Amino acid sequence: MKLSDKVNKLLKTKNLSDGELLELIKTDVFDEELFFAADKVRREHYGTDVYVRGLIEFTNYCKNDCYYCGIRHGNKKAVRYRLSREDIMECCREGYALGFRTFVLQGGEDPYYTDEIMCEIISSIRKEYPDCAITLSVGEKSRETYEKYFAAGANRYLLRHETADSEHYAMLHPNSMSLENRKRCLFDLKEIGFQVGSGFMVGSPYQTAENLLADLRFLQELIPDMIGIGPYLTHEQTPFADKENGSMELTLRLIAVLRLMFPYALLPSTTALGTIHPKGRELGLKAGANVVMPNLSPVNVRKLYELYENKICTGEEAAQCRGCLEKRVENAGYKIVTDIGNVKKH
Ligand code: 5AD
Ligand code: FES
Repeated sequence: MKLSDKVNKLLKTKNLSDGELLELIKTDVFDEELFFAADKVRREHYGTDVYVRGLIEFTNYCKNDCYYCGIRHGNKKAVRYRLSREDIMECCREGYALGFRTFVLQGGEDPYYTDEIMCEIISSIRKEYPDCAITLSVGEKSRETYEKYFAAGANRYLLRHETADSEHYAMLHPNSMSLENRKRCLFDLKEIGFQVGSGFMVGSPYQTAENLLADLRFLQELIPDMIGIGPYLTHEQTPFADKENGSMELTLRLIAVLRLMFPYALLPSTTALGTIHPKGRELGLKAGANVVMPNLSPVNVRKLYELYENKICTGEEAAQCRGCLEKRVENAGYKIVTDIGNVKKH
């Protein structure tokens, strides 16, 4: 099937057959038609609006040992830090003044933050910023814990499934982790009432085109509000130190396909995309992404939250990132808005 026929079918039905999707994943042409269609659909739903999320990386301690991740427990060279509730509130204060209406608390799976401590943090933010969304990205927890977070005032949760193929999952994670539990978490979160985000890395070690197809199919089953993807990027202090980075081109193509399959979705143009190429985030927006997530963490800890090498924005103050992104987004033809940025109905 020709590319234009695939694009038309995607526009009409929001779906393709397995074979057609595999062809799209495997092609290596820069398919302007696909990007044009994705941009058209994003404009129909979101106009030129780009939502910003203030990312607060509040702990780089992690009990897990994912083979791809720089802050894995087994990385004894990582210098660890934790932010206190006061530190986090200070980040929110700065972020609010800069126009952020969503705060994303992201961290490793750090047992120091018991349910009690997490809920104290969440309810403090909720009390002070009733007009803001609180997004958590702190990994796999029990349903009870998720319920407590929700009751304390959190509204959104990001948990990438990473890969929807259980054999591939086992190549990226130690035995203590399973795709089954990851999926259990995602469906629990949804049932509880969180707006849920999932996603995967593009070009993670051993990933095949069939794996990516499984990722798309899994997302169709989950129907998430947010879908975050970015290229895999290597880190020296992991078992995958010698593995190659993922491809920007394939990441962009998949963003466009995701926009066409999930027209309503919130799709971030990720930091990993900005790290692999100086214009990566702009290209992500043009391919259909509509969210950016500038860093609000204190500058003195930024470099320590090193999931992968050469991460951008580790030296800039929050206000600098905000200004820089504003220009980048405008150059790409869109506009950052001061808005809670909820998902459009689907
Ligand atoms: N390269 C790219 N993305 C990574 N992540 C973790 N390690 C890496 C890496 N080396 C992603 C994972 C995780 C998210 C917070 O960051 O997909 O879910
Ligand atoms: Fe952080 Fe450009 S967005 S410096």
